[in-house]
Amino acid sequence: MHIVTSIPQARALFDVLPRPLGFVPTMGALHDGHLALVTRARAECGAVGASIFVNPTQFAANEDLDRYPRDLEGDCAKLARAGVDVIFAPTPQTMYPEGFSTFVDVGAMGTTFEGAVRPTHFRGVATVVTKLLNIVRPDTLYLGQKDAQQTAVIRRMIRDLDAPIGVTIVPTERESDGLARSSRNVYLSPEERAAAPSLHYALQAIRLAMASGRPKVDAIAAARARVSPLAQLEYLDVVDADSFEPIETLRPPAFVIGAARFGGTRLLDNLWIDG
Ligand code: PAF
Repeated sequence: MHIVTSIPQARALFDVLPRPLGFVPTMGALHDGHLALVTRARAECGAVGASIFVNPTQFAANEDLDRYPRDLEGDCAKLARAGVDVIFAPTPQTMYPEGFSTFVDVGAMGTTFEGAVRPTHFRGVATVVTKLLNIVRPDTLYLGQKDAQQTAVIRRMIRDLDAPIGVTIVPTERESDGLARSSRNVYLSPEERAAAPSLHYALQAIRLAMASGRPKVDAIAAARARVSPLAQLEYLDVVDADSFEPIETLRPPAFVIGAARFGGTRLLDNLWIDG
Protein backbone atom coordinates (compact mmCIF):
# COMPACT_ATOMS: atom_id res chain seq x y z
CA MET A 1 0.00 0.00 0.00
CA HIS A 2 1.19 3.52 -0.82
CA ILE A 3 0.51 6.73 1.12
CA VAL A 4 0.93 9.90 -0.90
CA THR A 5 0.55 13.54 0.01
CA SER A 6 1.13 15.44 -3.25
CA ILE A 7 -1.27 15.72 -6.18
CA PRO A 8 1.30 14.70 -8.86
CA GLN A 9 2.29 11.61 -6.83
CA ALA A 10 -1.36 10.71 -6.30
CA ARG A 11 -2.20 11.06 -10.01
CA ALA A 12 0.82 8.96 -11.02
CA LEU A 13 -0.19 6.12 -8.70
CA PHE A 14 -3.98 6.18 -9.20
CA ASP A 15 -3.55 6.30 -13.00
CA VAL A 16 -1.79 2.91 -13.15
CA LEU A 17 -4.05 0.98 -10.76
CA PRO A 18 -6.18 -1.84 -12.20
CA ARG A 19 -9.72 -0.86 -13.22
CA PRO A 20 -12.43 -0.47 -12.16
CA LEU A 21 -11.06 1.83 -9.47
CA GLY A 22 -13.23 2.34 -6.38
CA PHE A 23 -12.69 5.44 -4.22
CA VAL A 24 -13.58 6.03 -0.56
CA PRO A 25 -13.15 9.67 0.55
CA THR A 26 -12.83 10.11 4.33
CA MET A 27 -11.88 12.67 6.95
CA GLY A 28 -10.05 9.97 8.96
CA ALA A 29 -10.99 8.95 12.52
CA LEU A 30 -12.01 5.73 10.84
CA HIS A 31 -14.59 3.33 12.28
CA ASP A 32 -16.33 0.22 11.00
CA GLY A 33 -18.65 2.34 8.84
CA HIS A 34 -15.68 3.57 6.76
CA LEU A 35 -14.21 0.08 6.62
CA ALA A 36 -17.53 -1.28 5.30
CA LEU A 37 -17.15 1.14 2.35
CA VAL A 38 -13.66 -0.19 1.66
CA THR A 39 -14.83 -3.81 1.95
CA ARG A 40 -17.61 -3.16 -0.55
CA ALA A 41 -15.24 -1.37 -2.95
CA ARG A 42 -12.70 -4.20 -2.58
CA ALA A 43 -15.37 -6.76 -3.50
CA GLU A 44 -16.54 -4.82 -6.56
CA CYS A 45 -13.39 -3.19 -7.97
CA GLY A 46 -9.96 -4.08 -9.36
CA ALA A 47 -8.31 -1.56 -7.02
CA VAL A 48 -9.33 0.74 -4.17
CA GLY A 49 -8.15 4.25 -3.35
CA ALA A 50 -8.99 6.25 -0.23
CA SER A 51 -8.36 9.78 0.96
CA ILE A 52 -7.85 11.10 4.46
CA PHE A 53 -8.39 14.85 4.62
CA VAL A 54 -10.17 16.90 7.30
CA ASN A 55 -11.61 19.40 4.87
CA PRO A 56 -11.60 22.91 6.37
CA THR A 57 -14.08 24.38 3.87
CA GLN A 58 -16.95 22.19 5.14
CA PHE A 59 -16.60 23.46 8.73
CA ALA A 60 -17.94 26.85 9.80
CA ALA A 61 -15.79 29.05 12.08
CA ASN A 62 -17.73 27.97 15.21
CA GLU A 63 -17.52 24.22 14.45
CA ASP A 64 -15.17 21.42 15.51
CA LEU A 65 -12.42 21.64 12.83
CA ASP A 66 -9.62 21.99 15.40
CA ARG A 67 -10.83 19.28 17.73
CA TYR A 68 -12.00 16.87 15.00
CA PRO A 69 -10.32 13.52 15.91
CA ARG A 70 -7.14 12.83 13.91
CA ASP A 71 -5.06 9.62 13.86
CA LEU A 72 -3.28 9.39 10.50
CA GLU A 73 -1.03 6.48 11.46
CA GLY A 74 -3.87 4.39 12.96
CA ASP A 75 -6.15 5.21 10.02
CA CYS A 76 -3.53 4.18 7.44
CA ALA A 77 -3.03 0.86 9.27
CA LYS A 78 -6.80 0.21 9.22
CA LEU A 79 -7.04 1.04 5.51
CA ALA A 80 -4.06 -1.18 4.72
CA ARG A 81 -5.68 -4.10 6.57
CA ALA A 82 -8.97 -3.48 4.74
CA GLY A 83 -7.19 -3.74 1.37
CA VAL A 84 -6.76 -0.15 0.15
CA ASP A 85 -4.07 0.17 -2.55
CA VAL A 86 -3.32 3.90 -2.39
CA ILE A 87 -4.13 6.50 0.29
CA PHE A 88 -4.10 10.18 -0.59
CA ALA A 89 -3.55 12.29 2.55
CA PRO A 90 -2.92 15.88 1.47
CA THR A 91 -2.39 18.94 3.68
CA PRO A 92 -4.85 21.86 3.62
CA GLN A 93 -2.16 23.88 1.74
CA THR A 94 -2.02 21.23 -0.99
CA MET A 95 -5.78 21.25 -1.46
CA TYR A 96 -6.31 25.00 -0.96
CA PRO A 97 -3.13 26.81 -1.99
CA GLU A 98 -2.74 30.57 -1.75
CA GLY A 99 -5.21 32.20 -4.15
CA PHE A 100 -7.74 29.33 -4.18
CA SER A 101 -11.13 30.88 -4.96
CA THR A 102 -13.42 28.47 -6.87
CA PHE A 103 -16.29 26.67 -5.11
CA VAL A 104 -19.05 24.32 -6.25
CA ASP A 105 -22.50 25.78 -5.47
CA VAL A 106 -24.98 22.93 -4.91
CA GLY A 107 -28.11 25.11 -5.01
CA ALA A 108 -31.25 24.74 -2.93
CA MET A 109 -30.54 21.14 -1.91
CA GLY A 110 -27.66 22.42 0.19
CA THR A 111 -29.80 24.89 2.13
CA THR A 112 -32.27 22.62 3.96
CA PHE A 113 -31.84 20.34 7.02
CA GLU A 114 -28.03 20.08 7.49
CA GLY A 115 -27.60 23.01 5.12
CA ALA A 116 -29.95 25.19 7.19
CA VAL A 117 -27.90 24.55 10.33
CA ARG A 118 -24.54 24.61 8.49
CA PRO A 119 -25.00 27.09 5.58
CA THR A 120 -21.55 26.64 3.94
CA HIS A 121 -21.19 22.93 4.65
CA PHE A 122 -22.34 21.38 1.37
CA ARG A 123 -20.47 23.94 -0.72
CA GLY A 124 -17.31 22.77 1.05
CA VAL A 125 -18.20 19.09 0.65
CA ALA A 126 -19.03 19.46 -3.05
CA THR A 127 -15.84 21.43 -3.70
CA VAL A 128 -13.51 18.98 -2.01
CA VAL A 129 -15.23 15.93 -3.51
CA THR A 130 -14.92 17.50 -6.99
CA LYS A 131 -11.22 18.12 -6.42
CA LEU A 132 -10.68 14.58 -5.09
CA LEU A 133 -12.53 13.06 -8.05
CA ASN A 134 -10.38 15.09 -10.45
CA ILE A 135 -7.22 13.87 -8.72
CA VAL A 136 -8.15 10.20 -8.23
CA ARG A 137 -10.33 9.76 -11.36
CA PRO A 138 -12.17 6.70 -9.99
CA ASP A 139 -14.87 4.67 -11.73
CA THR A 140 -17.04 4.39 -8.61
CA LEU A 141 -17.35 6.58 -5.55
CA TYR A 142 -18.38 4.83 -2.32
CA LEU A 143 -20.36 6.89 0.21
CA GLY A 144 -21.93 6.03 3.57
CA GLN A 145 -25.71 6.20 3.92
CA LYS A 146 -25.18 7.76 7.39
CA ASP A 147 -24.78 11.19 5.78
CA ALA A 148 -27.97 10.91 3.74
CA GLN A 149 -28.15 14.52 2.56
CA GLN A 150 -24.49 14.38 1.55
CA THR A 151 -25.23 11.34 -0.63
CA ALA A 152 -28.09 13.20 -2.32
CA VAL A 153 -26.04 16.37 -2.87
CA ILE A 154 -23.06 14.49 -4.32
CA ARG A 155 -25.18 12.27 -6.56
CA ARG A 156 -26.95 15.38 -7.87
CA MET A 157 -23.64 17.18 -8.40
CA ILE A 158 -22.18 14.23 -10.34
CA ARG A 159 -25.29 14.10 -12.51
CA ASP A 160 -25.50 17.87 -13.07
CA LEU A 161 -21.80 18.19 -13.93
CA ASP A 162 -21.73 15.03 -16.12
CA ALA A 163 -18.90 13.44 -14.15
CA PRO A 164 -18.35 9.91 -15.55
CA ILE A 165 -18.47 8.28 -12.12
CA GLY A 166 -20.85 5.79 -10.53
CA VAL A 167 -21.96 6.23 -6.92
CA THR A 168 -22.58 3.36 -4.51
CA ILE A 169 -24.28 4.08 -1.18
CA VAL A 170 -23.33 1.63 1.57
CA PRO A 171 -25.76 1.00 4.50
CA THR A 172 -25.00 2.52 7.91
CA GLU A 173 -23.00 0.48 10.43
CA ARG A 174 -24.51 0.54 13.93
CA GLU A 175 -23.45 -0.22 17.50
CA SER A 176 -25.32 -3.09 19.16
CA ASP A 177 -27.83 -0.63 20.72
CA GLY A 178 -28.62 0.93 17.33
CA LEU A 179 -26.46 4.07 17.50
CA ALA A 180 -25.11 4.89 14.03
CA ARG A 181 -21.31 4.71 13.93
CA SER A 182 -19.81 8.17 13.59
CA SER A 183 -16.39 9.71 14.17
CA ARG A 184 -18.13 12.24 16.45
CA ASN A 185 -19.44 9.55 18.87
CA VAL A 186 -16.12 9.85 20.75
CA TYR A 187 -17.21 13.31 21.97
CA LEU A 188 -20.21 11.85 23.92
CA SER A 189 -20.10 11.64 27.73
CA PRO A 190 -21.28 8.28 29.20
CA GLU A 191 -24.75 9.79 29.87
CA GLU A 192 -24.99 11.25 26.37
CA ARG A 193 -23.76 7.97 24.86
CA ALA A 194 -26.52 6.09 26.73
CA ALA A 195 -29.14 8.56 25.47
CA ALA A 196 -27.88 8.79 21.86
CA PRO A 197 -29.62 5.67 20.40
CA SER A 198 -32.98 7.33 21.20
CA LEU A 199 -32.64 9.24 17.91
CA HIS A 200 -32.58 5.92 16.05
CA TYR A 201 -35.60 4.66 17.99
CA ALA A 202 -37.52 7.82 17.03
CA LEU A 203 -36.79 7.20 13.34
CA GLN A 204 -37.92 3.59 13.67
CA ALA A 205 -41.14 4.78 15.33
CA ILE A 206 -41.84 7.14 12.40
CA ARG A 207 -41.27 4.35 9.87
CA LEU A 208 -43.52 1.96 11.77
CA ALA A 209 -46.32 4.49 12.28
CA MET A 210 -46.32 5.67 8.65
CA ALA A 211 -46.11 2.11 7.33
CA SER A 212 -49.28 1.37 9.26
CA GLY A 213 -51.03 4.34 7.69
CA ARG A 214 -50.62 7.17 10.23
CA PRO A 215 -50.18 10.64 8.71
CA LYS A 216 -46.61 11.97 8.81
CA VAL A 217 -47.45 14.83 11.15
CA ASP A 218 -48.85 12.42 13.78
CA ALA A 219 -46.02 9.92 13.32
CA ILE A 220 -43.41 12.63 13.89
CA ALA A 221 -45.26 14.14 16.87
CA ALA A 222 -45.39 10.72 18.56
CA ALA A 223 -41.74 9.99 17.73
CA ARG A 224 -40.56 13.22 19.38
CA ALA A 225 -41.47 11.65 22.72
CA ARG A 226 -39.02 8.80 21.98
CA VAL A 227 -36.02 11.14 21.90
CA SER A 228 -34.20 11.35 25.24
CA PRO A 229 -34.88 14.50 27.29
CA LEU A 230 -31.06 14.91 27.37
CA ALA A 231 -31.17 15.69 23.64
CA GLN A 232 -32.05 18.90 21.84
CA LEU A 233 -33.93 17.62 18.81
CA GLU A 234 -33.25 19.64 15.64
CA TYR A 235 -35.40 17.89 13.05
CA LEU A 236 -37.28 14.72 12.18
CA ASP A 237 -38.72 14.32 8.68
CA VAL A 238 -39.31 12.03 5.71
CA VAL A 239 -37.71 13.08 2.41
CA ASP A 240 -37.37 11.86 -1.14
CA ALA A 241 -33.95 10.16 -1.44
CA ASP A 242 -33.07 11.97 -4.69
CA SER A 243 -34.40 15.50 -4.25
CA PHE A 244 -34.20 15.52 -0.43
CA GLU A 245 -37.56 17.32 -0.42
CA PRO A 246 -40.09 16.41 2.29
CA ILE A 247 -42.74 13.88 1.25
CA GLU A 248 -46.00 12.99 2.98
CA THR A 249 -46.15 9.23 2.32
CA LEU A 250 -43.59 6.55 3.00
CA ARG A 251 -42.66 5.32 -0.46
CA PRO A 252 -39.25 4.34 -1.84
CA PRO A 253 -36.74 5.78 -2.47
CA ALA A 254 -36.89 7.88 0.70
CA PHE A 255 -35.08 8.61 3.92
CA VAL A 256 -36.56 9.06 7.39
CA ILE A 257 -34.08 11.60 8.76
CA GLY A 258 -33.24 13.15 12.12
CA ALA A 259 -30.66 15.28 13.88
CA ALA A 260 -30.21 16.08 17.54
CA ARG A 261 -27.64 17.59 19.85
CA PHE A 262 -26.44 15.55 22.79
CA GLY A 263 -24.57 18.13 24.85
CA GLY A 264 -22.10 19.74 22.46
CA THR A 265 -22.30 16.92 19.91
CA ARG A 266 -24.63 16.96 16.90
CA LEU A 267 -25.63 13.50 15.73
CA LEU A 268 -27.43 12.61 12.51
CA ASP A 269 -29.24 9.42 11.63
CA ASN A 270 -31.59 8.11 8.96
CA LEU A 271 -33.45 5.05 7.75
CA TRP A 272 -33.28 4.27 4.05
CA ILE A 273 -36.62 3.29 2.52
CA ASP A 274 -35.47 1.56 -0.65
CA GLY A 275 -38.35 -0.75 -1.24
O1 PAF B 1 -18.27 12.27 4.77
C1 PAF B 1 -17.14 12.76 4.94
O2 PAF B 1 -16.31 12.24 5.68
C2 PAF B 1 -16.77 14.04 4.19
O3 PAF B 1 -17.85 14.91 4.11
C3 PAF B 1 -16.14 13.80 2.82
C4 PAF B 1 -17.13 13.15 1.85
C5 PAF B 1 -14.90 12.91 2.96
C6 PAF B 1 -15.71 15.13 2.20
O4 PAF B 1 -14.77 15.79 3.01
